[in-house]
Amino acid sequence: MAAMQTIRNIVILTGAGVSAESGIDTFRSAGGLWEQHRVEDVATPEGFARDPNLVLRFYDMRRAAIQTKEPNPAHNALGRLEREWPRQVPGGSVTLVTQNVDDLHERGGSLSVIHMHGEHLTVWCTNCDTRHRWTGPLIERPPCPSCRAPYLRPDVVWFGEVPYRMDEIFAALREADLFVSIGTSGAVYPAAGFVRTARELGAQTLELNLERSQGSTWFDETRLGPASEIVPAWVEELLGG
Ligand code: NAD
Ligand code: APR
Repeated sequence: MAAMQTIRNIVILTGAGVSAESGIDTFRSAGGLWEQHRVEDVATPEGFARDPNLVLRFYDMRRAAIQTKEPNPAHNALGRLEREWPRQVPGGSVTLVTQNVDDLHERGGSLSVIHMHGEHLTVWCTNCDTRHRWTGPLIERPPCPSCRAPYLRPDVVWFGEVPYRMDEIFAALREADLFVSIGTSGAVYPAAGFVRTARELGAQTLELNLERSQGSTWFDETRLGPASEIVPAWVEELLGG
C-alpha cells in the first residue's frame, strides 16, 4: 500500500462476510442461504408472483432473525473510521456501500450507509411507491401506512432488478483514492465490478476477506482472515493508532 498521505477519499464495499461473525449466514458458503433456498423461489420477482406467501414467510423470518443479532468488531471499526477519518484528513471522505440488507453497520456506528441491495427493516409499497421502516411480519398483508393498500413487499433488490443508488456509487468511485472490499465473494454484479472500475480510475485497491474472492487479481493487496480481526487492524493502521 502506498503512503497514507496520498489517500483522501475511501470507498468501502461490504458483503455477507462482514456480518458472518454476528451469526448471519452468508449466501454462498457451505450451508449458506442459497443452499437452503432456491434463489428463483425466494429472490426473484417471478418467485414472488408465483408464491407470495413463501417469499413473505422467508423475509419475515430473516427480518425477525437480524433483530436478534449484534454488530461485531468489524462493523464497529468501520463506524469509527467514518467518524474519525475526516478529522484526520481534512476534506477526506469514507463512503460505505453494502450489499447487506441487515442494519449492523448502522448499529455499529456508521452514519451514512448505501444499501445497494435494499434493507430488511424497510418495506416498499408497490401501490403508492413509498418506503417505510418495518420490523414486524408482512404475511398477514398489513396496510401501507401511506395509502392503506395491502401491497407491501420486502424492500430488497431481487435478481433481475436494478440495485439502488448506482449513480451515487459511481460518483464516489470516480473520486476514490482507495477502494476496499470486505467480506464479499465477488460473484454478483454490478458490485463485483466496482474493483475494476475503481482501479481503472486510478484508485489503490485492497481486499479483506476470509479467502480470495473471484476478482482477486484486480486487487493490489489481499489480506486474509476473519473480518472481526483484520478490519479493526486495518482501521487502526490507517488512523495511525
Ligand atoms: P442482473 O444481472 O439481473 O441485474 C443487474 C442489474 O443492474 C441490471 O438490470 C443492470 O442493468 C443493472 N445495472 C448494472 N450497472 C448499473 C448501473 N451503473 N446503474 C444502474 N443499473 C445498473 O442482476 P443479478 O446479479 O441477477 O441480481 C440483481 C441484484 O439483486 C444483485 O445485485 C443481487 O445481489 C441482488 N439480490 C439481492 C437479494 C437479497 O435478498 N438481498 C437476493 C437476490 C439478489
Ligand atoms: N470474515 C471475512 N470474510 C468472511 C467471513 C469472515 N468471518 N466469513 C465469510 N467470509 C467471506 C467468504 O469467504 C466469502 O468470500 O465472505 C464472503 C461472502 O460471500 P457471499 O456469501 O457470496 O456473500 P456476498 O458477496 O455478500 O453476496 C453478494 O449476492 O445473492 C446476493 O444479494 C445477495 O448481497 C448478496 C450478494
